[in-house]
Amino acid sequence: FKGEIDASDIEKGTYPHYMLKEIDEQPFVLRRIIANYQDENGKLAVSSEIVNAVKEADRLYIVACGTSYNAGLVGKSLLENISKKPTEVHISSEFVYNTPILSEKPLFIFISQSGETADSRAVLVKIKEMGYPSIAITNVKGATLYRETDYQMLLHAGPEIAVASTKAYTAQIAVLSILACTIEDDCSFDMLNELSRAASVMEGLCDNKELYENLAKEYLIESRNCFYIGRHVDYYTCLEAALKLKEISYIQAEGFAAGELKHGTIALIEDNTPVVAIITQEKINLNTRSNIKEVKARGAAVIAISMRRLSAETDQIIIDDVHEKLTPLVSAIPAQLLAYYAALYRDCDIDKPRNLAKSVTVE
Ligand code: G6P
Repeated sequence: FKGEIDASDIEKGTYPHYMLKEIDEQPFVLRRIIANYQDENGKLAVSSEIVNAVKEADRLYIVACGTSYNAGLVGKSLLENISKKPTEVHISSEFVYNTPILSEKPLFIFISQSGETADSRAVLVKIKEMGYPSIAITNVKGATLYRETDYQMLLHAGPEIAVASTKAYTAQIAVLSILACTIEDDCSFDMLNELSRAASVMEGLCDNKELYENLAKEYLIESRNCFYIGRHVDYYTCLEAALKLKEISYIQAEGFAAGELKHGTIALIEDNTPVVAIITQEKINLNTRSNIKEVKARGAAVIAISMRRLSAETDQIIIDDVHEKLTPLVSAIPAQLLAYYAALYRDCDIDKPRNLAKSVTVE
């Protein structure tokens, strides 16, 4: 079973929008990734060239744009926490003209669904001139970044047609998590089982659409703005959740590190301002819960996406347990679906939002 791509991947079938279809495909995509990164003994593996390149590097530099950048932030957390590899994440368009001081032996990882993004390619051209090695993590075999980098890892997400990226985002996180565990010789993390569990949890979340639809109708569709708050990796999910809502519903949305709220953003909270709090990490659970209390005290209308039940007064989307390092894979799904239903009831062009392109080939 390698789940090769077929013609049905580019058809909408019975779905009203590609975005909804692509959201629903995520559990299947995750299983396809697991199958494609298994060696003949059934163990997760990447090519020995990639393992050696990562081992030889003293620091990894992830370079990406948009949703791929947000996946890169989660990737940094995985690479540093699972394989103890120092990792930086950079926005391509900044890196190319505002290049940081590099380590002695850097390795560049370009994350790009399309493999064609001009801002990322400009960085690749520059670092190649400097003589540094690179890996592309892309969804499109043979794309420019795929061809021009030294090593490649495919996302196996199948064609992503909706402009707003969903299945490629979780596929990027999955591939980065496989990279993180396979470069560590004595990795004790049972990544294969944990990813399989995440795929089942994803399925459950995709089956819960009525809840997201109702919450989007109640909290989001009349709103001018919306804030997402979270700590640790939940903060990265907040950045992606806010990006999804902005892209397709045109509601002004921002993701914040929950601890930073009190340093400025809380001034924006007024009666009925929607705040979505994401809590998947036990060690910051109580902190973010107290941030929920702070915003509620100022009138915010709160939705919580969390692994534990909060107080009965808070509307909540409960996520079943997955390993705490892999929660961004699953917490993204309710956020994607909240954005989808908000855009649906605001009558927006979900698959082709105004002013956006699927692949941006100019700098
Ligand atoms: C465009 C798309 C975004 C995407 C970004 C990076 O702006 O609208 O959804 O995240 O490009 O694309 P890439 O193909 O490099 O991941």
